[in-house]
Amino acid sequence: MTGKAWGGAFDEATDRRVERFTESVSFDRRLYAHDIAASIAHAQMLAKVGLITAAECQQIEQALAQIRQEIEQDRFPFSIEREDIHMHIEAVLVERLGDVGRKLHTGRSRNDQVATDMRLWVRDAIDRIDDRLATLQQAWVGRCAADAGVILPGYTHLQGAQPVLAPHYWLAYCDKFQRDRDRLADARRRVNVLSLGTAALAGTSLPIDRADVARRLGFDGVTANSLDSASDRDFLLEFVFALAVVAEHLSTWAEEWILWSTAEFGFLRLPQAFCTGSSIMPQKINPDCLELIRGKTARVIGALQTLLVLVKGLPLAYNRDLQEDKPPVFDAADTVEACLGIAAPLVSRAELDREAIAARLEQGYLDATTLMEHLIRRGVPQRTAHGLVGQLVRLARKKGVPLSGLSPAEFQAAHAELDQSAFDALGAERAVRAMTSYGSTGPEQVAAQVATWKKRLGMNAGSG
Ligand code: ARG
Repeated sequence: MTGKAWGGAFDEATDRRVERFTESVSFDRRLYAHDIAASIAHAQMLAKVGLITAAECQQIEQALAQIRQEIEQDRFPFSIEREDIHMHIEAVLVERLGDVGRKLHTGRSRNDQVATDMRLWVRDAIDRIDDRLATLQQAWVGRCAADAGVILPGYTHLQGAQPVLAPHYWLAYCDKFQRDRDRLADARRRVNVLSLGTAALAGTSLPIDRADVARRLGFDGVTANSLDSASDRDFLLEFVFALAVVAEHLSTWAEEWILWSTAEFGFLRLPQAFCTGSSIMPQKINPDCLELIRGKTARVIGALQTLLVLVKGLPLAYNRDLQEDKPPVFDAADTVEACLGIAAPLVSRAELDREAIAARLEQGYLDATTLMEHLIRRGVPQRTAHGLVGQLVRLARKKGVPLSGLSPAEFQAAHAELDQSAFDALGAERAVRAMTSYGSTGPEQVAAQVATWKKRLGMNAGSG
């Protein structure tokens, strides 16, 4: 009556408005390759256990390969009457193979099928995004040799704090993106299990072999509980959470470089090929890519929020609500991929303005903490040393000079331990050199970490 694959029990055709409202093919068609791969593995298993013949399996495989090609060449007939990508592919298979096509859905349901497709899709997306993250890390490490001698002001509260080596800054981002890669790799372990064969929710009475399908699709194992498996979308939550953290890291970097590239900071020149102009103000060269990276973070966080709310309070097992999981997952992955694709060349090509940076380093008493530590080494209690140096900063500020602009007599008056050697602790260069603790910005520490990263990222010794 309805002309639908599921229409047997209906005595009224579907309302057009319902077709438009319930379809998902407009967005789930991008699962086609994974859907076909899973169907081929499923058919091969059906043949292996004797639910279809080897000849039938071969017919199905060939027809599915043909359909894949037609979709790729834009020759495949899509229409919302066929609801989703699964029904489209199956309907055309049945059109072409008749009863043989009608056997493919043996021992499975769209519920376990769509979960499997999503697992396959996310697994590929994780691998692509991991590649892009590695490329971005290489861009950071690739800058380290050229920027080796550059000292930047380090900030807390966005107020000048202590000087740090530029490569120390760059490697900070390597660490952040490494945690992102680790998070994605960890999520991938839970993504990479097979849902197929749990059927609608209860499993099947047919003699299927789930482990066989898992092996064919490169899954590490099979899900244990059919009810859990049909309803589980944790793997999507984890994936998109990991993406949201990637986006957060990108937006921190983007914000920082937007600031650094202003005339007010003047630390950084962005490549003009990665900037855009204003339609009214002729002088403008704007950091729009960085701003969009910062802005697109909102979309990824929104996707995570959408998914969390989507699954909240759903009773077991499958509910149609779950169809709504796809747009946010696809959008989050697309967005992060696009941002990473722009980030890597921007990182490689931006140039530090060494003169502007050097001028800034001598302002703001960035060496005050090192002077305090000089006193601590000479036995002055930390709180006392902190107070003394604070008073010296106050004095220097009043006179409009850096700490090194105070006289030896002024140092001596502050504390007997502040002899001529105190001057050796002053200045950005010496402050950086004084650092020795593990993970600090000291040159030896940073050089060791650059070497570790190069090895880890498979970058050859000469590449900086
Ligand atoms: N398009 C559906 C989705 O994405 C496929 C599963 C439909 N299952 C069902 N019982 N109606 O969730």
